[in-house]
Amino acid sequence: MRTDTPVPTRLQDYTPPAWLVETVHLTFRLDPEATVVRSEIRFVPGAGGDLHLDGQALRLLSASINGEAIRPDLHECGLTVLEEQLPDGPFTWVAETRINPQANTALEGLYMSNGMYCTQCEAEGFRRITYFPDRPDVMAVYTVRIEGAEPVMLSNGNPAGSGEGWAEWHDPWPKPSYLFALVAGDLRSVEDSFTTRSGRDVDLRIWVRDGDQDRCAYAMDSLKRSMKWDEEVYGREYDLDLFQIVAVDDFNAGAMENKGLNIFNSKYVLASPETATDGDFEGIESVIAHEYFHNWTGNRITCRDWFQLSLKEGLTVFRDQQFSADMRSEPVKRIDDVLRLRAAQFREDAGPLAHPVRPAEYIEINNFYTATVYEKGAELIRMLREIVGAEGYAKALDLYFERHDGEAATIEDWLKVFEDATGHDLTQFKRWYEQAGTPRVHVAEQFEDGRFTLTFRQETPPTPGQPEKAPVPIPIRWGLLGAQGEVAAGTFVLDKAQDSLIVEVPERPVPSLLRGFSAPVILMHEGAPGDRAARLARDTDPFNRWEAGRSLALDTLVQGADPQDWLDGTIAVAMDETLDPTFRALALGLPSEDEIARQIAETGRSVDPDAVRADRIGLDRKLAEALGPRAAELRAAMATPGPYSPDGDAPGKRELANRMLGLMTRLDPTAPEAPFADATNMTDRLTALALLVREGRGEAALAEFHAQWQHLPGVVDKWFAVQAGQAAPDRAVEVVTALTEHPDFNWKTPNRFRALVGGFAGGNPAGFHRVDGAGYRFVADWLIRLDKLNPMTAARLSGVFETWRRYDDTRQDLMEAELERIASTDGLSRDTAEMIGRIRA
Ligand code: PHE
Ligand code: ZN
Repeated sequence: MRTDTPVPTRLQDYTPPAWLVETVHLTFRLDPEATVVRSEIRFVPGAGGDLHLDGQALRLLSASINGEAIRPDLHECGLTVLEEQLPDGPFTWVAETRINPQANTALEGLYMSNGMYCTQCEAEGFRRITYFPDRPDVMAVYTVRIEGAEPVMLSNGNPAGSGEGWAEWHDPWPKPSYLFALVAGDLRSVEDSFTTRSGRDVDLRIWVRDGDQDRCAYAMDSLKRSMKWDEEVYGREYDLDLFQIVAVDDFNAGAMENKGLNIFNSKYVLASPETATDGDFEGIESVIAHEYFHNWTGNRITCRDWFQLSLKEGLTVFRDQQFSADMRSEPVKRIDDVLRLRAAQFREDAGPLAHPVRPAEYIEINNFYTATVYEKGAELIRMLREIVGAEGYAKALDLYFERHDGEAATIEDWLKVFEDATGHDLTQFKRWYEQAGTPRVHVAEQFEDGRFTLTFRQETPPTPGQPEKAPVPIPIRWGLLGAQGEVAAGTFVLDKAQDSLIVEVPERPVPSLLRGFSAPVILMHEGAPGDRAARLARDTDPFNRWEAGRSLALDTLVQGADPQDWLDGTIAVAMDETLDPTFRALALGLPSEDEIARQIAETGRSVDPDAVRADRIGLDRKLAEALGPRAAELRAAMATPGPYSPDGDAPGKRELANRMLGLMTRLDPTAPEAPFADATNMTDRLTALALLVREGRGEAALAEFHAQWQHLPGVVDKWFAVQAGQAAPDRAVEVVTALTEHPDFNWKTPNRFRALVGGFAGGNPAGFHRVDGAGYRFVADWLIRLDKLNPMTAARLSGVFETWRRYDDTRQDLMEAELERIASTDGLSRDTAEMIGRIRA
């Protein structure tokens, strides 16, 4: 049992740094088990006071100030030199520390992955490399010397010389320590170049393991498109002579924006038609863009402290969403983003882990890289743009870059540039950053004497620590549909608890509200009978057209309503050749089991995961029956002959064709056999494989797939995930347990762990929630095991329990027992302890 209660860090306790850093010279003498790091740091007075340097898992070999050896006071989280022992003005600190990269399984700080050295310093990993004021408001210029036998040795910035056994790097841009990076190993590069619009030539290099060079083309192309887009849309140019990306197999997150040296989880770099799906290509494009965009929103302008995390993440997600929308289809991208928002953020906001976009306190900051900080943070920026308009937004962003370049800024600074650039008062808008929970907007309609009145009422349910909520400004884009098409449209900002919109129209219209999902709220609006069917058939806003179908499907799945309107409307969309195939495929999609469960919980009922699954399959089957032979015809019409392309309309056609295959399989379980055998790309091959496994007929296909791809870790991850997600719920625990014995189950690699354990807990809800509790036990066992090695990834997995209160008493008791067992584990990490504590509270 834990005895120490960790003290939370609070936003209100922020104090400016006592000492600032001008320059840092680091020398690394690389050794897998005993790397020596020499740091020479030029300190200058800040707010004044003692010198506190953060440090963790370090062995201090020596320390001096202005050349005089000192023995600082070492404590658990660093060291302190008292003010009276310090010179009055600037001074030079030199220290040597020893670290063990090989033993670093947490993958924070300097660690080894597949024989290469790499680093991850965000949020607080730099303190595992050397003693330093490891906080983002201390920005400094770094020079790095790496000594070792590795053929390639990289750090941030521009190369500053190299020779036999050494390499030096200099980064002219002051940066916080969390953006430091070092990579060394036997790497190969793929090279290209980009000329900025002011004529600077930038070398682009993607570093991978030998053999992976031919799978970097899409990442490189995405990078060049990102660089161009940021110049054209935001006026932002790249600012070094070199931009490098390194792909690593062992990585806790997706990727990291280290200045000039991004480090990526290899799944967001490597792709070829045979090994990556259309979704993988799209993911690469958006993550490459995201990390590149951080160069301005995150690196040039960083965060004052970690409470401001959404300042860089919300904005950068919004920017990468805009980029993907421009590269692909805007409405489709919006639907995808809303699906993701609801799946992760609405789920989070509805449970014990709900927190504001700017949290007020944390115990472990790693636990706040959440859907709320990222995705809801992006929604807030989208709303700001909606409220001030596209021009106002552009002006505000220009002012933001001009005013805060080179600084560590706050949410207040961000809102202030909008106020100054556009004249809007955003005092009330700030509540969006401070209040957790998803607002509900209730709508009442009235039509009388040519006046159509919409009365909106907002309400936000209580969340942990926040029983009362104040109204927030909610931009509601609306349109009114008459018999002949749209009769009126506009944006209404609901900033009171209740307010009305009145429009003069000759006949009662069909209202289409919250178009484009203009605010991250739950709209409680069915409208008159037949209205949703009308919107599904002819709404001029594609998002709301899709949303109408979704809402009808949920009526059936949540309330047991007659599905006829949904079936008719959806089939009409599916067969409409004037519509984008991706949009048609999205309209044909059913809400996930987790989404249905969330909606059932909304109504106050407890969730039966087996019934949810059965009802969903039942509706899918009804759709298949209603389509009949048209499914195969449509599938054939969507064929994409010729060479594979991840861009253009081919991915949408594949998606629609594969959705048809899924429906055909409901009626004929052998349907995926030929498509599996004939597939020429991973998208088609994996779809067919998943369907075969779903139908319990996957054995031969799984063996063949494994034999073909066992040498590629990213594809082997898919092989694990497909089995975890598609195994029949009543034996899924047995399937995944057996897979943990498979020689390829390298559970210390986060991607592999997430593929199997996460693929089961998140991808197979009925299996995870099996009523005997075996699924919960399996996940808890592995969580406890991983926590000893990698707290960050283990803590993240604990989120699979965040919905535990949705279920019946039996399941709640079983989950509670597992949570209790995890909580009482000896030596549980601070990361996981905080998560489990919040989930149980
Ligand atoms: N800052 C990274 C991103 O969003 C995410 C990250 C956080 C990566 C922490 C690693 C560790 O792009
Ligand atoms: Zn980011």
